[in-house]
This record gives sequence, C-alpha cells and structure tokens, in this order.
Amino acid sequence: SSDIKILAIESSCDETSAAVAVNGKVLNNIVATQSVHENYGGVVPELASRAHQQNIVPVVDQALKNAAISREELTAVAFTRGPGLMGALLVGTSFAKGLALALDIPLIEVNHMQAHILAHFIDDPKPKFPFLCLTVSGGHTQIVLVKDYNLMEVVGETQDDAVGEAFDKVAKMLGLGYPGGPKVDQLAQKGNPKAFQFPETEMPGLDYSFSGIKTAVLYFLRDQLKQNEGFIEENKADLAASIQKTLVAMLLQKLRKAARQYGIHQIAIAGGVSANSGLRNGLEQMAGKEGWEVYIPAFEYCTDNAGMIAMAGHYKFLANEFVDQGVSALPRMKF
Ligand code: KG4
Ligand code: ZN
Repeated sequence: SSDIKILAIESSCDETSAAVAVNGKVLNNIVATQSVHENYGGVVPELASRAHQQNIVPVVDQALKNAAISREELTAVAFTRGPGLMGALLVGTSFAKGLALALDIPLIEVNHMQAHILAHFIDDPKPKFPFLCLTVSGGHTQIVLVKDYNLMEVVGETQDDAVGEAFDKVAKMLGLGYPGGPKVDQLAQKGNPKAFQFPETEMPGLDYSFSGIKTAVLYFLRDQLKQNEGFIEENKADLAASIQKTLVAMLLQKLRKAARQYGIHQIAIAGGVSANSGLRNGLEQMAGKEGWEVYIPAFEYCTDNAGMIAMAGHYKFLANEFVDQGVSALPRMKF
C-alpha cells in the first residue's frame, strides 16, 4: 500500500520510547520511564544508556504490536539524533540504523527540540503558521519562531541553566527529591507567591538566564537557616510559590516581548515544564490581555516521547529528508 508507516524511536535522556504513525496520525506512544535515577537525585548517563539497551527491543515490539504492524510493513524509521546524552542517543541511533538497514527502508533523523514543537500537530487544535513556541524542559529553554513544519528559528534561549533545571535544583535545596519540578508545582499551589522576593535576572533581547535565581535562593536559605533551623520546613509552600512565581514571570516576560516584536498571536508551549500550573495560569492571563490563541499539547506529549518523533519524522518524510548509514548521534545538535 502507499500508506506512510513510520516507526519512531526516542532515547535522548531517561525515557525509552517508541511510536508508530500512519499517514501522519500517531497511533500509539510507548514509554518506558527509568526509575533507577531517583536514588541519585538526577539522571546518571551511564545508567540511562544501559536502561535504554534493556528497554529498546520490548518498547519497539510493543509499539508495533499495538499498531498491528509488522516490521516488514514499515515505510521508514525515524530516530532522535540529538540533542541529548551521548550514551543514551547512541542506543536509539544504532537501533534505528540497524533496523533501516535490515529492512532496506529510509532513515530519518529528528532534532529532539524540533520534535517537542511538532508535538502540537499530534492532536487538535493545531497552531497556525507562523507561531511562537516556548520550549521549556530540563535541558532547554527556547523561544522558537515556527514558520513551517521543517522551518524553525530559535529567536531567544537561555545562556546558562534551563528553567527545568532551575526548578529541579531549587527543589533539591528545599529537600523535595528528584525530579523536583512537579513537587515545587504541587507545593506552590498551597503557598503565598508574595511571601518572598527573588530577583528576576535581566538579559538582553529575547534571551534568558536562570542560574542567578538558583544562587539567590541558595544564599537566601543559608542566611535564614542560620537564624532558624526550621526555616525551610516552616515556609516550604511559600518558598515554592515565591520561586515558581519568579521563574514563570521571567518566562512570560520574554515570551510577550517576542510576540510583540514579531506581531504573532499564535502562541504554543512545549516540553516538561509546560505542565507547570503557574505557567499555564500565567499564560492564560497574558493571552487574555494580549489577544493570544494558546496551544498546549496533552501532557503525554509534553514530556519526552516518541509520538513527537513520529510526527517530526512524518513531515521530514514528506520533504524527502533522509540520512544515510554514516549518520551518528549528535549530543549538541542545533536546529
Ligand atoms: O521535557 P522533559 O520531560 O525532559 C527533558 O527533555 O528535559 O522535561 C523535564 C523537566 C524536569 O526538569 C522537570 O522537573 C520539569 O520538566 N517539570 C516541571 C513540571 N513537570 C515537569 N517543572 C515544573 N512544574 C511541573 N509541573
Ligand atoms: Zn525533551
């Protein structure tokens, strides 16, 4: 048949994922989350790589089985080439190359950050081009001008830490465990965001910086703990709310600046931090004032997943963008 059946593989960080898309419709999204990292307070690259090796065959088999498609029926294989952890990317890249070679079908490389953006095309409603996407994850914070499926430009980004990293580090300081972002979010909903003031770091243009607030929180807590050992325990929710408010304000301020600068009212968010309730509420408020139409993917497609890789792979297939067997993983892959 002339159906386009794409198997997609994602292994850039700590989720091993496979998905099948037929004619651009994502049929499933199998994700094996790695729990081994919880004990270490962060992703351990070596352990991530080993877990991907263990998970990749069962995850791929499950995606194919769920879609009732045999390997021989596949039209192409798409995989995350980067950015991400070298050892983790290698597993998905090698597997995809091997499969494409064995089946003699085209191989499609996908940029993980572009795929986060194309996750908006998995379900309705879909943003209209051109739109701006704020991509916020544990590794990245970018404002992207999206002109077409395969035509995107980073117009602003963090010059140091990603906002997800800032959430995770602050959570660690508050003794909340890893990954801390969702825990800060939960606590913040019970706290007073005006209880404490933290400085918003000013950056030129549309860029961000999130390392300053992390240090500010660290020193603030250290000083308070000198006077009162129970300070964190007694103020946990207020601290979480105040810090979250500051991070969200920084994210939204530059997003508004970008929207005004480019005269765009189609606004999307993507990546793990787009699950944050403070960001969602703040975005909704700003959208009302600025006349934006806002797009947020289903939670399943906000965090790392192969559904978005399948979507990106489909559009690259339509554009005839294939790679050969010489391709290798690219941890610092750019757009
Ligand atoms: O996109 P993602 O799943 O993986 C990366 O590619 O990094 O993003 C993970 C990041 C982590 O830093 C996590 O703490 C953060 O997203 N995160 C949140 C929330 N849910 C996930 N941060 C704040 N609030 C949340 N509700
Ligand atoms: Zn990601």
